[in-house]
Amino acid sequence: MTDFNQTNWAKAGFSQQYIDKADIYIVERRRMFGLLVSFYNHFLRGKPARILDLGCGDGILAHELLKADDAISATLVDGSADMLRKARERLKDFKNVRFINASFQEIIKKDILQPDFDLIVSSLAVHHLDMAGKISLFKSLYVHLRPGGFFLNVDVILAPAGSLEQWYLKLWQEWMDDRKAESGISDSISNDIIHRYKDNKDNKPDTLDDQLDALKDIGFQEVDCFYKYGIFSIYGGRK
Ligand SMILES: C[S@@+](CC[C@H](N)C(=O)[O-])C[C@H]1O[C@@H](n2cnc3c(N)ncnc32)[C@H](O)[C@@H]1O
Repeated sequence: MTDFNQTNWAKAGFSQQYIDKADIYIVERRRMFGLLVSFYNHFLRGKPARILDLGCGDGILAHELLKADDAISATLVDGSADMLRKARERLKDFKNVRFINASFQEIIKKDILQPDFDLIVSSLAVHHLDMAGKISLFKSLYVHLRPGGFFLNVDVILAPAGSLEQWYLKLWQEWMDDRKAESGISDSISNDIIHRYKDNKDNKPDTLDDQLDALKDIGFQEVDCFYKYGIFSIYGGRK
C-alpha cells in the first residue's frame, strides 16, 4: 500500500486546486451529497448519530450532514493536515466535531477510532487504496460500526470492460464541458483531467462488483449501488 506521504495529496497546493474546481471535476457532486443527506434523513434521523467521514478533505460532506442535523457528532479523518485545517475552519460553528490526522493505513493498523459509529461515509478517497487495502479498510470499518450501522462510499470505480470505460470517460468529459459552458469558467485543467486521472498512480479504482463482493464477504448486509453515473458511484451496506 502506498504511503500517504508519497501521494500528491501530501503536497501543498494540490489540495487547493481540487477544492477550487471539484464541482466541475466531480460529476453530479452536489446530487451525490444530496443523496447521502437523503439516506441519513431516511435511515438515521431521530437520534443523535455518530458519523465518521474518511478522507474528509475540507469537510464538505460532513458539513452537508451537519447542516441537515446539527445533533450529529462527527469525526473527520484525513491524511493531510492541510485539508484538516480547512475542514476545521469550515466546521468551526459546530459542536461535537473532532478531527483526526491519520492515513487509512494507520486506521487499519492502529486502534485510533471509537468502535460504535452509526454511519461511516467517504467521498472520493478510498480509490487511493489498492483492492487489498480496500478490503483491509472495509474490515476495519465493519468493526467500527455499531450493529445496524451503515457504510456509504462515494467514489470512482473501474469499468468492467474497456469499451464501457471509453464511454464512461466520455460522459465525464461531457459533464465537465457542460459545467464550464454553463458557468463561463475557463479551466484548462479539465481538458486534461481524464489523462491525469488515468496516469496518476495514486488512483487505484476497482470494479463496483469487486467492491460490493468484498463488502458482502466481510458480512455487510443490504449491499447495493445507490447511485451511478459512468465511473462515479455511491455504494455501501449495513452491518
Ligand atoms: C479527492 S479528495 C476528497 C475530499 C472530500 N472527501 C471531498 O469529497 O471533497 C481525497 C481526500 O482523501 C485524502 N486521502 C487520500 N489518500 C488518503 C489516505 N491514504 N489516507 C487518508 N486520507 C487520504 C486526501 O488528503 C484528500 O483530502
